[in-house]
Amino acid sequence: MPFTLIAELTYRCPLRCPYCSNPVNYNNTQELPTEDWLRVINQARSIGVWQLGFSGGEPLLRQDLEVLVATAADIGLYTTLVTAGTLFTPKRATILRDAGLDHVQISIQDSNATQSDYIAGTRSFAKKLDAARLVKDLGLPLTLNFVLHRQNIDRIEEMLELCQNLQADRVELANTQYYGWAYQNRAALLPTQQQLERAAPIVKAAQERRICPMGILYVIPDYYEDYPKACMGGWGRRALVVAPNGDVLPCQAASSIAGMEFDNVCDRSLSEIWLESPAFNRFRGTDWMSEPCRSCDRRELDFGGCRCQALALTNNAAAGDPVCHLSPHHHLVVAAREQISEQPLIYRSMQMQTD
Ligand code: SF4
Ligand code: FES
Repeated sequence: MPFTLIAELTYRCPLRCPYCSNPVNYNNTQELPTEDWLRVINQARSIGVWQLGFSGGEPLLRQDLEVLVATAADIGLYTTLVTAGTLFTPKRATILRDAGLDHVQISIQDSNATQSDYIAGTRSFAKKLDAARLVKDLGLPLTLNFVLHRQNIDRIEEMLELCQNLQADRVELANTQYYGWAYQNRAALLPTQQQLERAAPIVKAAQERRICPMGILYVIPDYYEDYPKACMGGWGRRALVVAPNGDVLPCQAASSIAGMEFDNVCDRSLSEIWLESPAFNRFRGTDWMSEPCRSCDRRELDFGGCRCQALALTNNAAAGDPVCHLSPHHHLVVAAREQISEQPLIYRSMQMQTD
């Protein structure tokens, strides 16, 4: 059974990051009401989930977030608020802390204010720093998350200094994943090999100096790996994602896979969906694999990599992840590394609505 639930409370967001994996063609009026989320949270606990991420979009756009956090805390779930930080006001932050929120993760787009605002598509850097300080003032653990790409990775040292100044407990330096909206910005965002070679020792030195008590996670781009990662820890193995409308997905980008139908929490229990949903069973385990994954020694380590990446690159979600050097489609990844260009970023343009 799963141990992580990612509750995507809304896809609405004040930011427009050009690497977002959320859909833009989404009807914002279809968000689950509070009582449905409360049922989902209780069902999740009853099937063994112990950590719950409130995510989005921007979860603080939901005015019922405090009620959801309090309910989750009451039944013993470890709760994380995954936020861009711009709406994390002292009043709401205090209520959330008092409701039992365990941990806050704030995304920052760059160590440089102008560049951070440029990538976010809106002025937000100063508010993010205020939010990070507020998390610490309230005595909550703070994770800072930087999505890395060619336009910011050369400032990785400054990002780490910022983390130290803000007293981050944990840092994620995760390179962009090239599916969803990021795929069309890949040529403008994919770092070069030289950039990665410069960044690696800087991160290693910071890790060795233990500048953050809970560690620094550094994830290099799949496109420069020989083997793919076990995306989501394997499809339908550890985690489930509930979309704003109640559809239950095996990963955050699964709705990009055409033809896949998702069960909804309004129609079935989470337990039934986890065990029986065709979407969860489609790529669960190894039976669905074709060669070279089917007979590969690593098939139960990486589970064939990322289905959404396979789809983006080959138009076939059932293909082995082309990041793998054994994949017959690996040449597509090699070609992408050579197609880096200075093309302008294409921003997301989702209409923002309020509750
Ligand atoms: Fe993983 Fe498939 Fe590559 Fe083997 S062939 S390493 S299972 S992606
Ligand atoms: Fe969907 Fe990797 S993001 S399987």
